[in-house]
Order: sequence, then structure tokens, then C-alpha cells
Amino acid sequence: MSYNVAIDGPAGAGKSTIAKKIAKKMNYIYVDTGAMYRAMALFLLRNHVDPSDSTAISEKCREADITLCYEQGEQVVLLNGENVNGLIRTEEVGNMASYASPNPNVRKKMVELQRQLAKTSDVIMDGRDIGTCVLPDADVKVYLTASSAVRAKRRYDELTAKGETCDLSVIEADIIERDHRDMTRELSPLKQAEDAVLVDSSDMTIDEVVDTIIALCKDRR
Ligand code: DC
Repeated sequence: MSYNVAIDGPAGAGKSTIAKKIAKKMNYIYVDTGAMYRAMALFLLRNHVDPSDSTAISEKCREADITLCYEQGEQVVLLNGENVNGLIRTEEVGNMASYASPNPNVRKKMVELQRQLAKTSDVIMDGRDIGTCVLPDADVKVYLTASSAVRAKRRYDELTAKGETCDLSVIEADIIERDHRDMTRELSPLKQAEDAVLVDSSDMTIDEVVDTIIALCKDRR
């Protein structure tokens, strides 16, 4: 039987950084489900779909085939066969993903693929609904969060390191708005699963968070 670790939490909590490190140390496959929703968002943006038009999203998403493959241990997201890893980490795509991800047709497609991966491999999967919906029987569930101010600062540092100019208060407002959308949507809203362990990374280093979660994985094994 495969071993499954679910990490959920809001944007900017450090889920992907942490999950990637744990995957390496524990020899799990890292599945970044946000990247799948982002690839779908990129497809919708390219096709000029209006984010507020859920009928158009439901229709158009049928034409997007999203799959994952792994190159030298790195997850590669393929959108209709094209590697889109380098195109999905923008605020525009992230915002569109937040509008498209509540759509039932979009979620159905993604969840099927995610469950398939978890069935066949030991995975650490991060997202918003992994512990509550995608993998309700995961061996370890973590709800990883941090204050919106800390998350905004991390995002700000990431963007400025890439040479992008940005405004910290705009980023924080954006994060708060996105959290609200993710937490209040009807289908699979972001929330802590009853059996998930809460980890608040606001005052923790990356290594402290990694060690905390690895201890949980070893405990439950
Ligand atoms: O984690 P991220 O910022 O890459 O996610 C992008 C968007 O996708 C975010 O608004 C929430 C959504 N998402 C989701 O609804 N369910 C998931 N399992 C993962 C992400």
C-alpha cells in the first residue's frame, strides 16, 4: 500500500518549499496540486475566458488535458503536452486559478488524477482540499499556515529577488482576498481537516517545519 501525506493551507504558508524538502528526505513523490489548477488557469487566460463566467469555464476546461511527469525528481506540468512550469508562477495566473478552481468540472478532472497518483506511489501532496476531500484516508495530514503579514512578506521577498517591483500592502491585500475566496467557496473550501495537525510556520524556520512534519510521518508509519 502506498503512503500518503497531505499538506493543506493558505497561499504562501510555505507548503511547496516544505513538501519538496520532505519528499527528498523521505523518498516520496511531491505532487503540487496548485500547479495543476494554475495550468488550467493559464489555458483559460490564453483562451480569453472571463473569470466570472462559470459556464464558459465549465465548457472550456474540457479542452485542457493536464498531466504530470517527473524529470530528475522535479514535477513537470504538461498542458496539452506543453511543459508550462515556467509560465504558471505569476500573480495573474494565480488569481485566475483562484476563480477557476471552485468550478466542479475543473475540480473533478484534477481530483481524479491526484487520487490516481496517490494510489500508485508514496506521495506528499499539497493543496487546499487534500486532507478533506482528495485523500481523506491519508496517513498524515498537516494544516500548514502562517499569518497573512508573514506570508505577504515572504511573497514580497520572492518577487523582489526575481527583480520584480511590487508593493507589500497590495500583496497582503491580495493574499487576504484569495484566502477568503478559497475558504468560502462552496466546493471543497480550504479548511483544516478534523484529523489534521495544525502547524503555524509564522515563527518557525523551514528546517523546523520540515523536522516537525517528518517526525509525524515517522510516528504514524
Ligand atoms: O497553491 P497555489 O497558489 O499554487 O494554488 C493556486 C490556486 O489553486 C489557489 O487559489 C487555490 C487553488 N487550489 C485548489 O483549489 N485546490 C488545490 N488542491 C490546490 C490549489
